[in-house]
Amino acid sequence: MNLFITNISQLVTVAAHGKPVKTGRDMRDLGIQRDAAVLCRDGKIAWAGPRTAWIGGTPKGVPELDAQGGVVLPGFVDSHTHMMFAGSRESEFALRSEGATYRQIAEQGGGILSTIRDVRAASKKGLKRSTAAFMTGMMKHGTTTVEIKTGYGLEMDSEVKMLEAINELRTEEIMTVIPTFIGAHAIPPEFRNNPGGYVSLVCDKMIPYAGRKKLATFCDVFCEQGFFGLAESEHILAEGKRWGMVPKVHADELSPLGGAELAAKVGAVSADHLEHVTERGVAALRDAGVVAGLLPGVSFFLNHGYAPARALIDAGVSVAIASDFNPGSCMSFSMPLMMTIACTQMHMSPEEALTASTLNGAAALGLSSSLGSIEVGKQADLLVAEIPDYRFLAYHFGTNQIRTTIKNGTILEF
Ligand code: NIG
Ligand code: FE
Repeated sequence: MNLFITNISQLVTVAAHGKPVKTGRDMRDLGIQRDAAVLCRDGKIAWAGPRTAWIGGTPKGVPELDAQGGVVLPGFVDSHTHMMFAGSRESEFALRSEGATYRQIAEQGGGILSTIRDVRAASKKGLKRSTAAFMTGMMKHGTTTVEIKTGYGLEMDSEVKMLEAINELRTEEIMTVIPTFIGAHAIPPEFRNNPGGYVSLVCDKMIPYAGRKKLATFCDVFCEQGFFGLAESEHILAEGKRWGMVPKVHADELSPLGGAELAAKVGAVSADHLEHVTERGVAALRDAGVVAGLLPGVSFFLNHGYAPARALIDAGVSVAIASDFNPGSCMSFSMPLMMTIACTQMHMSPEEALTASTLNGAAALGLSSSLGSIEVGKQADLLVAEIPDYRFLAYHFGTNQIRTTIKNGTILEF
C-alpha cells in the first residue's frame, strides 16, 4: 500500500495534466523525469518528482524499493481482450501458415465457433482458473488493468457463465478487471438460418440480464459482413445503452463496413481494430472523440493489413493499443510486443506506443481519471523495468524486461 521508490533513472509519468486522453503531438510527450523518486500512500501516488526535490529520506514506516537505476512507468492498460476461453486453436494457426485465411476458417465452422464449442462445455471454475493463470502471466509482463469480453458462449447460460466468471475474478484477483458483454460476437450455429432470432435473444434476454445484474460495463459488437451488420449492430448497442452499458465496436476489421462511423454515431467509448477504416471513418472518430483501439498483434498474427495509425494520430484521433489476446487472432498478451509491432509496422513512435498502452488505454475504458499515468492522486500501478531507456520496451523485443510490477502500491510476488 505504501512504498517509496528511489534510484529511478527515468520516471516515465505520461502525465496528462487533467486531460482525459492524449492526441496528436501530445502523444509523444511522456513527461519524463530523470533521477527521480515516487511515493505511494494508501495505494495511490502521493508524490513523484526528481530525487533532489524530495526533502529528507525515506518517510517513516514506508518500505523503500531501490529501482537500481531502472525505468519506472505506469502499468499497462490492456483495453481489449477475449482472454477468457477454453481450448486452443493451434491447428488453425498451422492452416494459416499454409495460406488459409481467418475468414475461410470461420466460414468452415472453425474460428470463433470452435472456441464456442469448448467454452460451452467448460465449467465456470475451469474458465476462472485458466483466466487467472493468464492474468498472472500478464502482470509479470506489466499489465495491471485488463478488459475481458464474453462472446464465446452465444447462448444464455454460457454468456451468463462468462459474465459471472469475469465478475468473480474482478473481486478475487488483484488486477483491475473490466467486463464487457459481446453476445454479438458471432451467429451461433443453431441460429445460422435465423440470425434475426439471435439478435432478438441478445437484445431481449442477454442484455437485460447483464444490465439488471450490473455484470458488464461495456457492450460490444463484431460489426462485420457475415457477423453483425450496421443496422443490427446499432440496434444491439442501443439496447446495451438503455441497460447502462457504454458502447464499444469491433469496427472495420475485415472490410470497410462503416463501423467507425457507427461508433461515432452511438457515442462509443472506443472503436477497435480499424484495419480498413476509411477517411470518413477517421474524421467521424475525431469529431466524436471516440478512442481508436488498435490491435497490432492481430494484423501480425493473421498476416493482414495494419490499421492506419499515422493517419489516425495525425488527424487528431486518440489512439490506444491493446493485445486483443484470444486463441484465434492474437495468442499473445504481451503489451511490449504490441508496442514493438506498432513501431515497426504501423510507424508509431516509441513514445506514442507507450502513451497508447497506458493513458490512452485507460481512456478506452473510461478510467483515465484514476489510471494510466504517474500523477498525484492516481492509483499506484507502476512498473520497474530493467532497462537503461524507456525505448528498450519496444526495441528489445521477445524478452520480458519488467522486473517488478506494483499494483495499488503493493509489490506483486509471483
Ligand atoms: O477481436 N474479431 C472478432 N473477435 C476477435 C477474434 C476472436 C477469435 O478469433 O476467437 C478479435 O479478433
Ligand atoms: Fe476483439
